[in-house]
Amino acid sequence: MRLYVNIDHVATVRQARRTDEPDPVRVAVLAELGGAHGITVHLREDRRHIQDRDVRLLLETVRTGVNLELATHPEIVDLACQLRPMQATLVPERRQEITTEGGLDLGNPDVYRALEGALERLKGAGVRTSLFVDPQTRSLERALALGADAVELHTGEYANARGGRRREELARLARVAQEGREMGLAVHAGHGLTYENVVPVAAIPQIEELNIGHSIVSRALFVGMERAVREMRELLERAPTLVPRPGEWVPPVGF
Ligand code: PXP
Repeated sequence: MRLYVNIDHVATVRQARRTDEPDPVRVAVLAELGGAHGITVHLREDRRHIQDRDVRLLLETVRTGVNLELATHPEIVDLACQLRPMQATLVPERRQEITTEGGLDLGNPDVYRALEGALERLKGAGVRTSLFVDPQTRSLERALALGADAVELHTGEYANARGGRRREELARLARVAQEGREMGLAVHAGHGLTYENVVPVAAIPQIEELNIGHSIVSRALFVGMERAVREMRELLERAPTLVPRPGEWVPPVGF
């Protein structure tokens, strides 16, 4: 299970004052020291947190790999093709949203066509591609038809649900992850995962990569980035022993 640490919110704090601290690049190095397998950043069209310069410097500095999240805006796709991160994850983006609110709507012909163009360009530049999708079989089929290397399953519904609903969402993630693997897609997951809710998701054997940001950056305020990442890594490593059959997992009271 690879842990990619999303450091967008380090840049959010910096942009609150438009100064040069805290520096996401220095934080990325600390995340790597804590055991991150890679660093994720979302270069949004409105540049509300991560800036172009951050991406350039991260690509020069990071020793693991950079997963660049982006929408299909031609200008950002151009930049990604020029910078060639290890992986590009295509996500939906709306200016009004606080954070990414759901997976790509692959059933929408305009979205599908825009993705076809972006994927062709990214693949031509030698960038591994992933699509952020809701955990549904038809999203996997469309991702496969589009030729993506991977899907990232949106775990927001799971994270927001409680009790029995959360158990259902977990079972759905486990089923769709298995289907994705059987189709030959690499399966990633992320959004809304925390130290409290990550273990059952990390125990799903078909999921090979998690993208986690807000919870790790929040914890880092108290214990520092290196330790925050190390703690998350430890949870991921213990997950298969804590939850041996994720689809049958019963949430503890209050979870
Ligand atoms: N994956 C994707 C595609 C995202 O857009 C985000 C949020 O930027 C994350 C994972 C990380 O979500 P969180 O910050 O809630 O851990």
